[in-house]
Amino acid sequence: MITKPPGIEDIFPDKIEKWNHVLQTAKNIFALYNFKEIIIPILEFTEVFSRGLGTSTDIVSKEMFSFQDRGQRDLTLRPEGTASVVRAFVENGEYNRLALNKFFYYGPMFRAEKPQKGRLRQFNQFGAEVFGSLDPFYDFEIISLINFISQKIKIPTYTILLNSIGCLKCRPEFIKNLSSYYKQHQQELCPDCQKRLESNPLRLLDCKNKSCQNLKKDAPKINRFICKECQVHYQTVKKYLSEQKISYKEDPCLVRGLDYYTKTTFEFITDQLGGQNAFAAGGRYDNLVEQFQGQPTPAVGFAAGLERILLLIDDQHIPQTSLDVFIIHNGDKSLEIALKILDLLRKNNFKVDLDPSHNNFKPQFKKADREKSKFALIIGEEEIKTKTFSLKNLQSGQQESVETDKIIDYLKKKEI
Ligand code: HAM
Repeated sequence: MITKPPGIEDIFPDKIEKWNHVLQTAKNIFALYNFKEIIIPILEFTEVFSRGLGTSTDIVSKEMFSFQDRGQRDLTLRPEGTASVVRAFVENGEYNRLALNKFFYYGPMFRAEKPQKGRLRQFNQFGAEVFGSLDPFYDFEIISLINFISQKIKIPTYTILLNSIGCLKCRPEFIKNLSSYYKQHQQELCPDCQKRLESNPLRLLDCKNKSCQNLKKDAPKINRFICKECQVHYQTVKKYLSEQKISYKEDPCLVRGLDYYTKTTFEFITDQLGGQNAFAAGGRYDNLVEQFQGQPTPAVGFAAGLERILLLIDDQHIPQTSLDVFIIHNGDKSLEIALKILDLLRKNNFKVDLDPSHNNFKPQFKKADREKSKFALIIGEEEIKTKTFSLKNLQSGQQESVETDKIIDYLKKKEI
């Protein structure tokens, strides 16, 4: 048997209803917030991500699905959407330079992580990016948007973690202090963090290794180092959140695993996902557009993990769309009539099915039950003789006789 690669899932119809419910809710809320959809490629030149996310991040250094195509070009299956949206924005002349651009997107992302519950190698995100404003209102708006989606799809208890990691002006001083603290504890660091200390000391705060986590407690905190401008920005985001009664917890160690962030960072976390506690995350990234050779354009955004959200609402009942009518026949002439009425009902917007392979009623009734059909429309010898259909309500068991040419009007009146 040929199987799928590890960390990759097949999604069968029983999961799709919930999947679509979450996506549709997110799309409705994106529309309420005036975000417009952008479709970005799944495959990009590797440089989009190495330049965008930072070469020393875990994603770029060890988790990308990268390969060379036949023209020896380096390509990568996108591990996230932000860098692609920025590349598209800049490549298309910064889209609409005069306007504030609010985009949303969704689709599969690929990261070669160790698969476990809530951590896949192919997973789906929906996310949003705002280009063109430094106003802390948009940091707030993004957080408020995820909060709205989370409430609408009834994600059980979650916490919003919030931090500011400063800007290119104030962060170097913090990093200097952070490095000198960790240098004093170099022997206690995990092998990865020994390297990070040289390449990207901020990442040390992100490490999940126990001894590195212990060291984090006494590490210098960024809030002591951020400049006046970053402080005011952060205070204003917090003020907006408090005014809207969106509660959050400040976490001065929340640096996130991507290099492009400036100022605000946040995560929506829950304790119901084991090790993978974030179901949505993001922040501000005011320098990334410039890094892609665009005009200086501040930006802020988020992405949420669809599979993680589905795990969180696993026990919720989402009404399944079921069949309106299952047609039951006994072959030959009856099947001939059945096929005609099948077509007619579908053209009148009823969800209808039948099974042409059986002439006996019993297995067909079983199938109608399995499909949770609201009605069974029966075409037996008696019905052919009297030019009627027997219509059985499969919930109440009630059966009525309806003249063949009145069936559409009759079903329409039932408002099924
Ligand atoms: P991220 O934190 O890497 O951020 O991913 C966002 C969300 O994607 C996570 O909170 C999680 O729910 C989901 N996710 C990430 N990796 C996996 C995985 N291996 N399996 C299942 N779900 C996963 C970003 O991707 C940024 N682009 C967010 C952003 C947008 N920042 C600014 N704009």
